[in-house]
Amino acid sequence: MTVPFLLAPMAELSHRPLRELIEGFSGPGSGCDEYFTEMISAGPLLGGGPFESWYMDAGPCPERVVYQLVGSDPEQIVRAALLLDSRECLGIDINMGCAAPAIRRTGAGVAWMASIDKAGSLIARVRQAVKKRLSVKLRIGFEDDFDYLLNFCRRLEGEGAELITLHPRTAGEKFKRSPRWDYVTALRRELHIPVAGNGDVASATDLLRRADGGPVMVGRAAVRCPWIFAEARSAQNFTDYHGFMQKEVDLEETALRFLELLIKYQPPEFYISRARRFFNYFCDNLKWAHYVKTLLNREETLGGIERALRGYFGEHPEERYRKT
Ligand SMILES: Cc1cc2nc3c(=O)[nH]c(=O)nc-3n(C[C@H](O)[C@H](O)[C@H](O)COP(=O)(O)O)c2cc1C
Repeated sequence: MTVPFLLAPMAELSHRPLRELIEGFSGPGSGCDEYFTEMISAGPLLGGGPFESWYMDAGPCPERVVYQLVGSDPEQIVRAALLLDSRECLGIDINMGCAAPAIRRTGAGVAWMASIDKAGSLIARVRQAVKKRLSVKLRIGFEDDFDYLLNFCRRLEGEGAELITLHPRTAGEKFKRSPRWDYVTALRRELHIPVAGNGDVASATDLLRRADGGPVMVGRAAVRCPWIFAEARSAQNFTDYHGFMQKEVDLEETALRFLELLIKYQPPEFYISRARRFFNYFCDNLKWAHYVKTLLNREETLGGIERALRGYFGEHPEERYRKT
């Protein structure tokens, strides 16, 4: 059985340019199966803020895009879910996992995990409102307590959630703490709906290793290596998707392509912040990653970033191609 590969929702990263880049390495059925968007705040979405159309751009493959909503007010979340449900997409995901203090303080993200009843009734309301697939992304909770997590998820399942993604760290744990993948396995055994596992998948080999019991979601590694899904599928099927196996990855071309995609599919106000976020991970492919990041972070325009990248690869031609 082929298990689905999912791109994680990541603020300022999981947008159309990244999807375009990933699709460029693969294509339908041979790479990423579901693209979660960066979290979209329910309130501003309803308020029709100036950037909301960019957040809602589900290209280039809306049928595989899952909109992720974040918020604390059930009424707003339901209305925002309804709005997104009317667009072409695969599903709606509710963020119950984000532990960033600014989000948590407002009662959004992982704050929902404090009350099974409140979270359950939110999911029941959203379920009634939307037709598309409804999913929830969450963490273990505030404590390392599997029974609480299980009761929480059973309630969500009972109220109509159709997929749960578990990032198996507690609310207080940072990336340094290893994710507890055994909780993903245990949750899969107990629930009737699919459970996607997420956390620290670092390579195509890792992705395949995790893809033994259910969907796998990849975040940071898919920014560093946008070919990760295509590479894993090729290896899994011993096939040559789009010639992927024969190719080395051209890192310079990929970096420059990303800049083009930013210009094509994002508003100018987002260029720099999104370029910095992307290159913060992508540059980890390079030997002198820290140096390149410092160079790029000094730049205030995409033109400057492009020049810095070209200059770096000009000085270090051996860095340009990466074997997969
Ligand atoms: C920069 C960044 C932004 C993120 N934004 C979101 C978000 O908008 N919604 C969400 O549910 N999780 C968010 N996350 C968490 C990821 O979806 C994922 O759970 C986490 O990075 C672990 O997966 P990984 O080890 O594959 O990166 C974010 C993570 C990062 C690094």
